[in-house]
Amino acid sequence: MCTGGCAKCLGITLIPLAVLCTLANILLFFPGGKVINNNENITEEVWYFGGILGSGVLMIFPALVFLGLKNNDCCGCCGNESCGKRFAMFTSIIFAAVGLVGAGYCFIVSAVAINKGPKCENGNQWSYPFENGNYLGNHSLWSQCTSPENIVPWNLTLFSLLLIMSGIQAVLCAIQVVNGLLGTICGDCTCCGCCGDNGAV
Ligand SMILES: *[C@@H]1O[C@H](CO)[C@@H](O)[C@H](O)[C@H]1NC(C)=O
Repeated sequence: MCTGGCAKCLGITLIPLAVLCTLANILLFFPGGKVINNNENITEEVWYFGGILGSGVLMIFPALVFLGLKNNDCCGCCGNESCGKRFAMFTSIIFAAVGLVGAGYCFIVSAVAINKGPKCENGNQWSYPFENGNYLGNHSLWSQCTSPENIVPWNLTLFSLLLIMSGIQAVLCAIQVVNGLLGTICGDCTCCGCCGDNGAV
């Protein structure tokens, strides 16, 4: 069983996803690629920082912990070669849970934002012209947003990307919860190159 190596490759995948989620959230502050004068006219869910905090900052901690698992020095803890490794794997469960919460938060915010639709200028006032995702299946409704230009595809694309990427992050963290449980129970045989006697419970 190579639980440490698995954790490392999960960590490597999480980092670019965290960067991309942060970028997507930042781009959402510039509807249609433009600077908006009044912050109140930016879609509310953008201000929940799902991509920056949930899938970004919160994801950095589990990603770094997972990356370090492979190289953790596990030899010589209480004379038990695998117990240091086991403790590291156990700790990783807690960080994986943190990541799961962050990604889950971003996922939920994105889903709500997609369903609600963007805030845009409709007539002479700013409002949310769509409801219950009705604009998703009916392209002709998009013209209700007169400005900012391309606000609907802009928000839809970026929130969809956030939805997908945070979903992947959540799955990866869930995998590490299971992986960490296995590592805690079984130890990690590849550690110290000591596929020996204490691999089992
Ligand atoms: C799309 O929305 C327009 C405007 O409300 C409506 O007239 C049309 O029937 C809708 N089309 C579909 C397929 O729901």
